[in-house]
Amino acid sequence: MKGIILAGGAGSRLYPVSKVYSKQLTLIYDKPLIYYPLSILMLSDIREILIISNEETIPLYQKLFDDGSDYGIRIEYALQTAPNGIAESFIIGEDFIKDDGVTLILGDNIFYGDLDFIYEAIQKNDGATIFGYRVNDPERYGIVEFDGSGKAISIEEKPLKPKSDFAVPGLYVYDNEVVSIAKNIIPSKRGELEITDVNNYYLNKGKLNVKKIGRGIAWLDTGTPESLLQASNFFGVIEDRQGLKVACIEEIAFNKKFIDEEKFRDIISKIPKSLYRTYLEKILKDS
Ligand code: TTP
Repeated sequence: MKGIILAGGAGSRLYPVSKVYSKQLTLIYDKPLIYYPLSILMLSDIREILIISNEETIPLYQKLFDDGSDYGIRIEYALQTAPNGIAESFIIGEDFIKDDGVTLILGDNIFYGDLDFIYEAIQKNDGATIFGYRVNDPERYGIVEFDGSGKAISIEEKPLKPKSDFAVPGLYVYDNEVVSIAKNIIPSKRGELEITDVNNYYLNKGKLNVKKIGRGIAWLDTGTPESLLQASNFFGVIEDRQGLKVACIEEIAFNKKFIDEEKFRDIISKIPKSLYRTYLEKILKDS
């Protein structure tokens, strides 16, 4: 299974910061936003990852992660010349995906809680697996309609009259057919290759699994100043209370044995004096 993080986009709702800076590099409490989706892929044992972004931001991600070897993973980078839609990821990523299945996560999506259901869905995927999460403002999302038996029967992108409150989060798991499906869909009225069209293709073939996510899980989407502040406060409270970090990719790499103790020690030695370094030193000492 390969992983893709789509981390370009216009970020227009974050203007004026978005004039000079990528949304996925903004700080969520104590680390850049992109650490959160990257950690989900790592925790799912996905170790080959493609980051898709624009020309200005790719060098910044390269500066952050290089080839991923510090985290025991392989990271490649690819260009999306304009925000042409989420489904374009599979066309851009075709050579990277090769014959494998692929999990796509949007660079501004954060999940928190007992995420075993995600890791399991990724391991066991057959066809396509997406999720449904109850939200207060369904008009803003792709919305899944379920029949009486709980089976998904339709998905509509940003409906004026939503048929349910279940939004589709930006985490999608596909078999290899997604590449040819993405190549055959046509841009929507807003000029984007819509992920909802890909999902509807799987739905019509009876190959779409939609797993409802319960209220014990936080799915945070961070497209606006308010939601960025909420996410920072959320993780600030949790990390401060527990003394443990969320989405600390060095810690995840070490705990999952993607890197050995020597490598972990070496990485820590290169981090400037900071609370982040002190935290990693404690992880090493307690191991
Ligand atoms: P959106 O929130 O839909 O768009 P955006 O980030 O450009 O922000 P705004 O709506 O304020 O202009 O994007 C969700 C995520 O997917 C975000 O991480 C950016 C990324 N994305 C791309 O990289 N390329 C694309 O073509 C699209 C549609 C999104």
